[in-house]
Amino acid sequence: MARQQSRYVCQACGATHLRWEGQCRTCGAWNTLVETLVHEPDHKARASRSAAGPGAGATPQSLAGLREAEPVRTPTGISEMDRVLGGGLVPGSVVLLGGEPGIGKSTLLLQAAAGLTVTAGEVLYATGEESAGQVRLRAGRLGLLEGPVGERIRVVAENEVGRISALAREARPGVLVVDSIQTVTVDELEGPAGSVGQVRESTLRLMELAKGDGIAVIVVGHVTKDGMLAGPKTLEHLVDTVLSLEGERTATLRLLRATKNRFGSTEEVGVFEMAEHGLAEVADPGRAFLADAGQYAPGSVVGATLEGSRPLLVEVQGLVAPGAYGSPRRTASGVDTNRLSLLIAVLGRRAGVGLGSHDVYANLAGGLDLADPGLDLPLALALASSLRDRQVPPDLIAIGEVGLLGELRPVPGLERRLREAARLGFRTAIVPRSRRGEVPEVKGMTIVAVSNLREAIGHALDASVEPAGRTGPE
Ligand code: TYD
Ligand code: MG
Repeated sequence: MARQQSRYVCQACGATHLRWEGQCRTCGAWNTLVETLVHEPDHKARASRSAAGPGAGATPQSLAGLREAEPVRTPTGISEMDRVLGGGLVPGSVVLLGGEPGIGKSTLLLQAAAGLTVTAGEVLYATGEESAGQVRLRAGRLGLLEGPVGERIRVVAENEVGRISALAREARPGVLVVDSIQTVTVDELEGPAGSVGQVRESTLRLMELAKGDGIAVIVVGHVTKDGMLAGPKTLEHLVDTVLSLEGERTATLRLLRATKNRFGSTEEVGVFEMAEHGLAEVADPGRAFLADAGQYAPGSVVGATLEGSRPLLVEVQGLVAPGAYGSPRRTASGVDTNRLSLLIAVLGRRAGVGLGSHDVYANLAGGLDLADPGLDLPLALALASSLRDRQVPPDLIAIGEVGLLGELRPVPGLERRLREAARLGFRTAIVPRSRRGEVPEVKGMTIVAVSNLREAIGHALDASVEPAGRTGPE
């Protein structure tokens, strides 16, 4: 039998130590020792294995002779979630669902569990975070207590991974939910729950269970404020799929993304709204992040971003106010603060919009947090609009990346963004002039192609300037 021992392994150089220390004595790196179980196979087993050669499963096959492996999928019944998963949950796969505390992970999984009882069989819900009573309370709020669903979701308050696995092997559910990985421990390790060693070893055990017994496992992982999955990054490499649930806890909209997916694309996003009875799918995600019509004011400009293959329109808000003494404030929510500073500098030097002594605030409506450079132009226009206290036309949309020279750069998927904007009633679009000078044609929309920020501001804020673009065919 293989003996198992706990050792502290340096993640930088691989050296093994008997005890935890702050610094690795071999390579000198700090905070790199992680408690790990080391397997010491006995010599007889190793000798017999090498004599027999590689197992039968390892016979090489010709590329052409390989069987196509299109995985079976069990839909969760929540179409926004299935979309992100690539059609549904793959039996035997391990999914990690990350997100900030309180964002709605447990809610989403309980709702998904309800759907999975229909497609995948029983669901075992292991909770280490909350008591079984608290889970029941939430299930009541979600309306899952009555009917067959209430029977087919089994809840257990347990956090030792060996016992969770044993329960799963005995009950043979289609899906096991572990909420959360930070509360799970392995008996053989000494470190506290949530430590890198515990989190990693627990995940490895759950993967063994998933692969060995064909049970799909969904693991919840809390994400710290700076966006890192608490615990090791290696967790993301281990599992098959990493989903993240994002949003502003004080707002109601939530975005579900796949940041890794062995069985599907990572391009899709799901849009939800946290409501009275759990997460509801948003019917028209393209407009979910827009303010209601008639609410626009100076400082508000609509941009179009592309989340995977799905265009989303989003209202970008800027507020410029004369600064008091000292260095002016720059506050951004939903957009990168460095990007905001850069745009302020470019506006001042290249577009005649001096904001140097002003306090500047920038915000994306709906609690979105996006890194799309295509939002540069709407943000810059929003700041110019706020400074001049002039509103841009309410049916105007702006798309484009802004360079250091004030030039506008093309963004991917321009036509798709424009078509969505046209569908939602936008009639004018300011976009970067393409290198070859061609302007996309979108039905019902006037597209103004400009080469720099100064021109863009002219078109958006000065009605006297004639549009230089052309109108698409009606
Ligand atoms: P929860 O799923 O517990 O978050 P997480 O598991 O990510 O920590 O969701 C917590 C929040 O969601 C809580 O503030 C209450 C809110 N909520 C609703 O608004 N409606 C609901 O139906 C439910 C169940 C929760
Ligand atoms: Mg929770």
